[in-house]
Amino acid sequence: MRIIKCNNKQEMADLAYQTFQEYLTNVVDPVIGLATGSSPIAFYDKLIDEYNKGNFSFKGFRTFNLDEYIGVPKEHEQSYYSTMSKLLFDHIDIDRNLIEIPNGNAPDLSLECERYETLLDQYRIDVQILGIGTNGHIAFNEPGCSLASKVHITELKEQTIKDNARFFDTIEEVPTKAITMGLVNILHAKKIILLVSGSNKAEAVRDMIQGNVTDNLPASILQLHRHVTVIVDADAARLI
Ligand code: GLP
Repeated sequence: MRIIKCNNKQEMADLAYQTFQEYLTNVVDPVIGLATGSSPIAFYDKLIDEYNKGNFSFKGFRTFNLDEYIGVPKEHEQSYYSTMSKLLFDHIDIDRNLIEIPNGNAPDLSLECERYETLLDQYRIDVQILGIGTNGHIAFNEPGCSLASKVHITELKEQTIKDNARFFDTIEEVPTKAITMGLVNILHAKKIILLVSGSNKAEAVRDMIQGNVTDNLPASILQLHRHVTVIVDADAARLI
C-alpha cells in the first residue's frame, strides 16, 4: 500500500488527481469504479475543474458505482444515482449510456445482482475510487461480511445507518439495505485509490494498515492488493 498523508482536502484532491492520471497512463477507454460519500467530493470537484479548463475529458469512459440503496427511488435526492449526477455526471462530458449504478428498485434484486456481476466480469475496472466507513466498511461490505463476496444485497449496520442519518430528515428514513459490489469485485480492480478524511476514520485507517486481514474490518482486505494508494488527511492519519 502506498500511503500519502495530506494537510487538507485540496491537497488530497490534487494528489488523487495526479495518482488517477498516473494510473490511467496508456489505458484506452478507461473503466472507472466510483464511490459516493463525502470523502471523494473534493476529488470530483477537481475532475470537474480540470474538465472545465480543457485538461481532461471523460469521452469513452465507462463507470461503475460501488453500491446503491435498496428502496430509495432513483429520483430521490439521496439515491446514489442522484448523488453521483449532482457531484459529477451533470458537469462532465461522460456518455450517460456508459454509466452503471446498481438498480436498488429492480423488481428482482437477485437478478439485478447477477446483471451487475456479469457487467463487472465483462469490463474489468482500471481504477477504483474508494472511501471507508467509520467501521471499516468499503462500498457496503460491512464488518462480518464474507471476504469472498461478489455483488450482493446487504443489511446496513447500526453504525452505518447512524453515519448516514446526516443525509436524511429522520433516522427512520435512512435505508437499511443496499446492493453492493463484494470484496472480490473490489480486489479485481487493477488499481485502487482510497480517499479518507476526518478524525472519526482514524481507527479504521490504523487497523486497515496495521491490523490483520479480517472480516471484522473489511477494508483490511486491501492489504492483499498490489496497487492501492491511500490518500489520507492529517485527522484520519493521527494514529498511523
Ligand atoms: C457510504 C458508502 C461508502 C463510503 C462511505 C463513507 O457508506 N457506501 O462507499 O465509503 O459511505 O462515506 P464518507 O466518505 O461520507 O465518510
